[in-house]
Amino acid sequence: MSQKSITAPHKGDLAIEAHGLVKVFGDNRAVDGVNLKVGTGTIYGVLGPNGAGKTTTIRMLATLLRPDAGSASIFGHDVVKEPQIVRQLIGVTGQYASVDESLSATENLVIFSRLLGLGRAEARRKAAELLEEFGLTEAAKRPLKHFSGGMRRRLDLAASLIAQPPLIFLDEPTTGLDPRTRNQMWDTIRRLVQSGSTVLLTTQYLEEADQLADRIAVIDHGRVVAEGTVDELKASVGTSSLQLRVQHPQDIEMARRTIEQVLKVQSSISAEASKITAPMGNADQVTDLLVALRDAGIPLAEMSVQKPTLDEVFLTITGHGAQEDTHLASSESNKVGGAKA
Ligand SMILES: Nc1ncnc2c1ncn2[C@@H]1O[C@H](COP(=O)(O)OP(=O)(O)OP(=O)(O)O)[C@@H](O)[C@H]1O
Ligand SMILES: [Mg+2]
Repeated sequence: MSQKSITAPHKGDLAIEAHGLVKVFGDNRAVDGVNLKVGTGTIYGVLGPNGAGKTTTIRMLATLLRPDAGSASIFGHDVVKEPQIVRQLIGVTGQYASVDESLSATENLVIFSRLLGLGRAEARRKAAELLEEFGLTEAAKRPLKHFSGGMRRRLDLAASLIAQPPLIFLDEPTTGLDPRTRNQMWDTIRRLVQSGSTVLLTTQYLEEADQLADRIAVIDHGRVVAEGTVDELKASVGTSSLQLRVQHPQDIEMARRTIEQVLKVQSSISAEASKITAPMGNADQVTDLLVALRDAGIPLAEMSVQKPTLDEVFLTITGHGAQEDTHLASSESNKVGGAKA
């Protein structure tokens, strides 16, 4: 019986390659032709607002959901034709959501280790090591049902690391975590990649993509609307970004028109209450702008020129902010879990 062998992935190969992935739910094209190329040994960020299709994309790549059209391969193995091989190459956080609630964190990790073929002593050692790394040592003996959301998430990641898969999908790994825990998570993710793993993470946090990702795909309404390194995406908005606040909110429209004329940009100017944000090709234009605003009789409360944030990149690309509708986020939709590989 011949079976395609699993070759060890090496740098330069593509960890993920997807062409025209589509998933339709009823009349909702949740994923509408997504193309992705993720290099081995890198951190790839998929950035998008609620409902953009991030989780659905991951579920197709992780063999948890069958694409309606398009194709994808993981280290060269087709997700539809070779799901068994793909599953041996990946880890998905949330995948272990159905662990035994009455068992302690240690017991759960030991069971996973044993299932993966580790000896008893090795399994104990691995569990202790991971709990230490994730700051869960204190809680190690507590049953899972008494864990907080943040602790659960860390244990989830710990469990998916036992096997040290070459490719790890992290679906919103830090949503809902406090800043300190989030930073720990970031360190762990960086260490994972240093030790040879490839990571694809989804996030709604522009800062997270900025901090971690080598490359980013911005996804909106099921489509990749921009792709590149963080610097490339930032450069697409202009070299700098103007932030300005007018003293009188009624001046905002006039100020906006003045900025449009002087900077010769339109589409990506955002104006809300008394604040305007606009891309600037050349920081020198600020002198002309200040003169024009004074001539128009518009007093300013505040003005700054800075490097664009990813938020502004998102606004420029999609015409709306990344954080829109975030309050609709439900912890359910952020989980890849449920279906087991
Ligand atoms: N099993 C399903 N059945 C029907 N519709 C679904 C299903 N899963 C997702 N959807 C819909 O597909 C779209 C994309 O959802 P998805 O969960 O992929 O978005 P997301 O980018 O992960 O969003 P979030 O940031 O909220 O996690 C949404 O409109 C969602 O309502
Ligand atoms: Mg999601």
